[in-house]
Amino acid sequence: MQKDLFRKKSIQKILKDSNEGFGDATHHSLSKVLGVRDLTFMGIAAVVGAGIFSTIGEAAFNGGPGVSILFIITAITCGFSALCYAEFASRIPVSGSAYTYAYASFGELIAWIIGWDLLMEYAIGNIAVAISWSGYFVNLLKGFNIQMPAYLTLDYLSAYQAHKTLLGNGGDIAKLSETAKTAAEAWATAPAIGNLRLIADLPALLIVLLITVLVYVGIRETKRATNVMVVIKIGVVLAVIAIGFFYVTPENWHPFLPNGFGGMMKGVSGVFFAYIGFDAISTTAEECRNPQRDLPRGMVYSLIICTVLYILVALVLTGMVNYRELAVADPLAFVFERVGLNKISYVISISAVIATASVLLIFQMGQPRIWMSMSRDGLLPKAFARVHPKYKTPSFATIVTGIAVAVPALFMNLTEVTDLTSIGTLFAFVLVCGGVLLLPKEETAQTNKRFRMPYINGKWIVPLLFLIGVTVFHDNLLNHFDFSDGWLVVREKLPLYVYLILALIISILSFTKSLSLIPVLGLLSCGYLMTELGYVNWLRFLIWLGIGLVIYFGYSYKNSKLNKTADE
Ligand code: ALA
Repeated sequence: MQKDLFRKKSIQKILKDSNEGFGDATHHSLSKVLGVRDLTFMGIAAVVGAGIFSTIGEAAFNGGPGVSILFIITAITCGFSALCYAEFASRIPVSGSAYTYAYASFGELIAWIIGWDLLMEYAIGNIAVAISWSGYFVNLLKGFNIQMPAYLTLDYLSAYQAHKTLLGNGGDIAKLSETAKTAAEAWATAPAIGNLRLIADLPALLIVLLITVLVYVGIRETKRATNVMVVIKIGVVLAVIAIGFFYVTPENWHPFLPNGFGGMMKGVSGVFFAYIGFDAISTTAEECRNPQRDLPRGMVYSLIICTVLYILVALVLTGMVNYRELAVADPLAFVFERVGLNKISYVISISAVIATASVLLIFQMGQPRIWMSMSRDGLLPKAFARVHPKYKTPSFATIVTGIAVAVPALFMNLTEVTDLTSIGTLFAFVLVCGGVLLLPKEETAQTNKRFRMPYINGKWIVPLLFLIGVTVFHDNLLNHFDFSDGWLVVREKLPLYVYLILALIISILSFTKSLSLIPVLGLLSCGYLMTELGYVNWLRFLIWLGIGLVIYFGYSYKNSKLNKTADE
C-alpha cells in the first residue's frame, strides 16, 4: 500500500492522457487560442484585485509605510515560485497546474493533497474576492442612490460581531466605523426565523453565478472579457500612482516601520493574497498555442508588472495619509476622498468592481480545469472531465465550481477566507518548489525552445543563508523559545519551530546533494511566510487536509487509473 500511495505518473503518460482525454467520442479537447500576450493579461487579471484594492488597507495599518518592503519580500518569494511553476509548465503543459506537477514528482498521495489544497486557493480565494466585490458594488449602488437592505449585503458573522461591539459600548452607534455601522444595521433589521437572522451577501452570490455563465460558454469569450478588464484596471492603478504622487506628504513616511518588523509581518496574509493568481494561468496550458514557451513568460511578465505597480501603490497610499487611517475596506478610494478628490475616488470604486470581477473570472476558470485533470486520473468521478461539445469547456466541473463558490460566498467572512486562501496557496507553492527538486534530470535536454530554470548550485549558499538568518535573528528566535508564556502564546510559535527544523534539514541536503538554489529558496521563503499565519489558521488548514484525506481513501485511491492499470 505504501508503494501505491506514492505511485507516480510519468511525464510521457501525463502528456499522452491529456492528448487523448478518455479516448471516447464524448470527450473533446479544449480550444488552443492563447498566446503570450493573452497569458500575461490573464496573469494580471488574476493578480490585481481584492488584494490591492482592499486587503492592502489592513496591512498598511499594521505595518505603516514599511508595508512596501513586505510587498518586495513577498514578490521575491513569489518570484522563486513563479520560476518553479514555469519550469513545470514548460515540461508538463497540461491543465492541472500544481496538481499535475506533484503527480509527476511526488506521486499520487501528495498530488491528491495538492489538488485538494488548490481548492483553497481557487474556490475559497474566489469566495474572498466575491465578498470584496460585493463591498465595492454596494458602495457604488449607493452612489446611484440605490440602497440595498443591509442584511442582504454582508455575512452573518460580521453582522453579529458589529452587534456585539455595539452592545459592548452601550449602544452608541456613532462610535462604530462606517463598515461596522452597516453591519450593526443589518443585524437590527434582518428578518428572523426563531433566533436565526436571515443575513446573506446576495451580490456576492449573483456575481459568481454571472461569471460562471461566462466561463461556461467559452475560453474565447473569457479571453476577450479579461483583456478589456485588464486594460481598465491597469489604467486606473497607473492613474492612482500618477495623481496620488502629487498628494504625497513625505512626513507620512516617517517612521517607516512604526510597529517594527512584527507589525509589518502582520500583513503577510493580505499582501500575499494580493499576489496570488500568476500561477493560475498554468491551468490553461491545454488552451495555449505554444505552452512550453508562452506559459513561463506569461507568469513571469505578469508577476514583474504587478510587483512594480504594487510597490508604487503602497508608497503612494502611505504617503497620502497617515497609515493609521488606512484600516478601511476600500483604501484606494478612501485616500482620494480624504484629499478631496471625490470624483477620482468614485472612478476607483468603479474600477475596483471591474478588477475584482476579472480575478473571479480567472479563478473560476482555473478550478474546473484542475478537477478535470484529477478526474482524468480517476481521482474524481468521470463527469468532472466532461468537455462541452459546443463550448469546449469543462462543463460539469464549471457548474460545480460555480455552486461551490457562490453558496458559501453568501455567508462567509472576508478575513477568514483570505487567511485560508493564503495558507493554502503558500503550501501549494512549497510543494511546487519541492517538486522541481525531484524532477528527473534526464529530460532536461529534450527541446531547445522551452523555458529552463537556471541551475545555481546551492551547496554553500543555502547553509550560509541559514547561518546568517539564525545569527541575525538570534535574539528574536530566543524570545520564541521562551515557554513561560503559557500554551496560548507557545502554540502560535509552533509553526516556526517546525520550520526551523525543516530549514536545517534542507540546508544539510543542499550541502550534501548540491541542490538547485532557486527552488530551495522558494521552498524556504514560502515556508517562512506560512509560519507567520498563526495557529488557528494552521489548525483549519490541517482539518481541511484531513477531510481531503478521508475522500482520497474513501474514493480516489480505489478508483485511481494507476490503481486500475496495476490491477490489469
Ligand atoms: N490576487 C488576487 C486578488 O488580489 C487574488 O484579488
